[in-house]
Amino acid sequence: MCGIIGVTGTGPAVPRIIDSLKRLEYRGYDSAGIAALVDGRIERRRAKGKIRELEAVLLAEPLAATIGIGHTRWATHGAPTTTNAHPHKAGRVVLVHNGIIENFAELKSELAVAGRVFESQTDTEVVAHMLDEALKTDTNPVTAFKSVLDRLTGAYALAVLIEGEDGLILGARRGSPLVVGWGEGEMYLGSDALAVGPFTQKISYLEEGDYVAVSRDGARMFDVDGTEVKRPIVQVSASSAMVEKGEYRHFMEKEIHEQPDSVQRTLSEYLDFVNGRAKTPAIDFTAIDRIQIVACGTAFYAGQIGRYAFERLAGLPCDVEIASEFRYREPAVTPGTLAVAVSQSGETADTLACLAWCKAHGLKTAALVNVHSSSMAREASLLWPTHAGPEIGVASTKAFTAQVAALLALAVAAGVARGRIDAPTEAELVKALFEAPRLIAEALQMDGDLREVALDIAKATDVIFLGRGPMFPLAMEGALKLKEISYIHAEGYAAGELKHGPIALVDEFTPIVALAPMDDVFEKTASNLQEVAARGGPVIMIAPTRAPDPHGAGIRRIAAPDCHPLIAPLVYAVPMQLLAYYTAVQKGTDVDQPRNLAKSVTVE
Ligand code: M6R
Repeated sequence: MCGIIGVTGTGPAVPRIIDSLKRLEYRGYDSAGIAALVDGRIERRRAKGKIRELEAVLLAEPLAATIGIGHTRWATHGAPTTTNAHPHKAGRVVLVHNGIIENFAELKSELAVAGRVFESQTDTEVVAHMLDEALKTDTNPVTAFKSVLDRLTGAYALAVLIEGEDGLILGARRGSPLVVGWGEGEMYLGSDALAVGPFTQKISYLEEGDYVAVSRDGARMFDVDGTEVKRPIVQVSASSAMVEKGEYRHFMEKEIHEQPDSVQRTLSEYLDFVNGRAKTPAIDFTAIDRIQIVACGTAFYAGQIGRYAFERLAGLPCDVEIASEFRYREPAVTPGTLAVAVSQSGETADTLACLAWCKAHGLKTAALVNVHSSSMAREASLLWPTHAGPEIGVASTKAFTAQVAALLALAVAAGVARGRIDAPTEAELVKALFEAPRLIAEALQMDGDLREVALDIAKATDVIFLGRGPMFPLAMEGALKLKEISYIHAEGYAAGELKHGPIALVDEFTPIVALAPMDDVFEKTASNLQEVAARGGPVIMIAPTRAPDPHGAGIRRIAAPDCHPLIAPLVYAVPMQLLAYYTAVQKGTDVDQPRNLAKSVTVE
């Protein structure tokens, strides 16, 4: 949720921290702040809003230091104000935090009894007070820090400066990711590889429960038991460490246009295009009798699309559930179940908790994730990578199509393994998937038509998306995209369900966007559109040119590429994304960083 950076070296730290915070802004942008040690004393600059507000504060009150920590916040406890902005200070201690300290109220009462006075409403501030208190009796900052960590429940990534400990940054992670970056005469702590990407590509990923003392020339790491450990230094690729918008106005626009490549890269992981075969994944699909997908948001819709494919192609029962529901409802799982967590970040708290729960209950587990070093990737016994590359826009686009592509390819592999797909059918399906990148590129050419439709959508207060089969979850994904970046209320419905209630919403002011590829339920969808059009609803039907006209007054057609039904969710995702994008641009909203959201939801 929040982004963290720490820099300790001999050169100016503040410009580096600002550079890093800009790259981390996608994680949260309610407020931002920096603390540094200037002549051994703590100095802080904080601002409500985005990094540019913090830059304005720094312009008025510059900060020159060789060591500092920075934070960009997605508010959990306490409103997004300057007072609640991190870093939080208490006595000799100043720190930044990502996560939630669940027992903060109890700790706060204890500290208040000891005479501690709090300036913010955050859960974080208690940690600063606790460490300041601990340092009174333990002069070793590392052991004092450990004694504080032992009392915290909840999730955290922390970066800490202590007055009188020049050159030292303490860090810790539990439930929220944190990396150590290794530079030349300069060291870093950051939320992810992107945070330290401009300075180094040599990274150590801290493990669950680790804490670390970072100095100018190295880092000492300790595991949850306090034993000194070495975590490997890995070289991350420059592309995962550096991301720029290039020629595009927004990251979201760039990421939409990257999809022919990102889908191709992902499919190559799972398919042998040369021989027209699905690669055999490191799992025996005949040894499982059920798949349980858990995910949140867009990843949940990708999972639902996957379900249609696993059941149809492999005859493999597949359930898909929102992780925040699954984790608390005591689900009845059977031993032959493969639990699959689908996630772009691999850090979403609810999905990660479900994965851990499934593992603890003896299930086989797989993580279908885009960040291959993420907590989910490490927690699951099987890693199913997607290769979307870093996704910066808060609204997920290329990560979604990469998830769908991987699930479709895996469903083909499952169908082959379970004897439901013969060799010619396998070749046909692999060929269809092989065509997906080209057809996605063709779908990107729909932008002129969609720009025009967006002018009308931008005037609406409610929009309905319709689809059948795998187009139903895609309709819900289209509605989510529109909601999150244009702030227009939208819902996705199964086209056949509309007449059971939601059709009452239809009037001449409510656009209905219908996803109608030429599949085996096209005629059914077309009938549903006639029903809507007959009631005065302005229908926008996205369908290939060869699709017959449903003859409804008010039905506006937008031509989409004709494609094999298997890949329709990949191809039709593009007009959904472009429609949301152009509507948001038309409305002038903050496309890449929509209000109230954060890229990675590491709190439940
Ligand atoms: O990183 P994850 O895929 O686990 O994230 C799940 C959701 O938070 C995410 O898909 C969210 O719904 C996006 N904002 C959708 O665009």
